[in-house]
Amino acid sequence: MSEQKYLNLNNGLQMPILGYGTWMASEEEITVAVSDALKVGYRHIDTAPVYLNEKAIGNVLSKWLSSGKIKRSELFITTKLPPPGADRPDLVEFMLRKSLADLQLDYVDLYLIHTPFTVVVDEKGEFKRYEDGTIIVDPSTDHVALWKEMEGLVAKGLTKSIGISNFTVKQIERIRQSCNIQPAVLQIEYHIYLQQPQLIDYCKSANIAVTAYSPLGSKGVGSLNKMAGVERELPDLLEVPEVKAIAQNHNKSEAQVLLRWIVQKGISVIPKSTNTKRMRENKDIFDFKLSAAEIEQLNNLDANLRIVNFSFFKGVEKHPEFPF
Ligand SMILES: NC(=O)c1ccc[n+]([C@@H]2O[C@H](COP(=O)([O-])OP(=O)(O)OC[C@H]3O[C@@H](n4cnc5c(N)ncnc54)[C@H](OP(=O)(O)O)[C@@H]3O)[C@@H](O)[C@H]2O)c1
Repeated sequence: MSEQKYLNLNNGLQMPILGYGTWMASEEEITVAVSDALKVGYRHIDTAPVYLNEKAIGNVLSKWLSSGKIKRSELFITTKLPPPGADRPDLVEFMLRKSLADLQLDYVDLYLIHTPFTVVVDEKGEFKRYEDGTIIVDPSTDHVALWKEMEGLVAKGLTKSIGISNFTVKQIERIRQSCNIQPAVLQIEYHIYLQQPQLIDYCKSANIAVTAYSPLGSKGVGSLNKMAGVERELPDLLEVPEVKAIAQNHNKSEAQVLLRWIVQKGISVIPKSTNTKRMRENKDIFDFKLSAAEIEQLNNLDANLRIVNFSFFKGVEKHPEFPF
């Protein structure tokens, strides 16, 4: 079946529609997993300094690149400006250079502002908190000033493309009104229970490619919530009866149906797995097609239910740019 496996970005570059997510995997786990993901054939890797595994990923990439098994031009690497840098335009280049040093790369393919809100950190880089444990936010965030610095990174060849993550239409519009380089990508939580049709339509009209994070429901977020003392029942997307029935119909797994539904909409997807069998499964989604009726059935499951609502960062909801 001929299938679009790349998305064309608004700057003429391409991004593989399927990528590999790396959140909530230790350095040990991710060292094995990224190597396995490259063996399985993933070429698009999504990371961020807050995942605390860029160094481990950098070691794997360096081995693959220096052995000649892979060329830099075959990879699409995304990383993100962390929330503690998101209020300080003067820190933008420093933050990317730190990620590049850890990843052992000269450039990334995509640099995203991770969140529209900002937290305050101490000298050790740890989040500052009030006595009750809630995080201290920095309300002085200026997205327009920040974006100017992001544009400078492209001019310096430190990243090929720039974008945003977890931003609202209003926040993206503010950047677009004054920018020289349009955001190429918006990365957001996106799955059958959180479809955000207005945001998706807006991105289509603004020619901004969308990447879906937590497409399988991000099981690990439950443990973060627990650590933060947040009681929250989260759904298991793999157990949804409609998903199970469609999977059976195509002789595919529930995860494959959830991912296929996303790429069939022209949205990029970055499932995370540290299990080689599941990595292969998540990649094997281009040899079947959901019918229009099946797509519709899954569209109808939208419940506006956000799984990664950042409640594990108690206090960030007080930031004036908190998006949810
Ligand atoms: N921009 C942002 O703010 C943001 C926020 C969240 C995530 N992200 C990015 O998006 C990526 C994906 O999101 P996510 O990690 O939250 O969640 P996800 O990809 O929806 O789900 C990952 C979970 O699903 C399990 N899993 C993976 N494949 C499976 C399969 N075929 N069958 C059954 N279970 C499967 C994984 O376990 P195993 O590892 O054991 O397979 C893991 O527990 C992240 O890793 C990160 O790169 C970005």
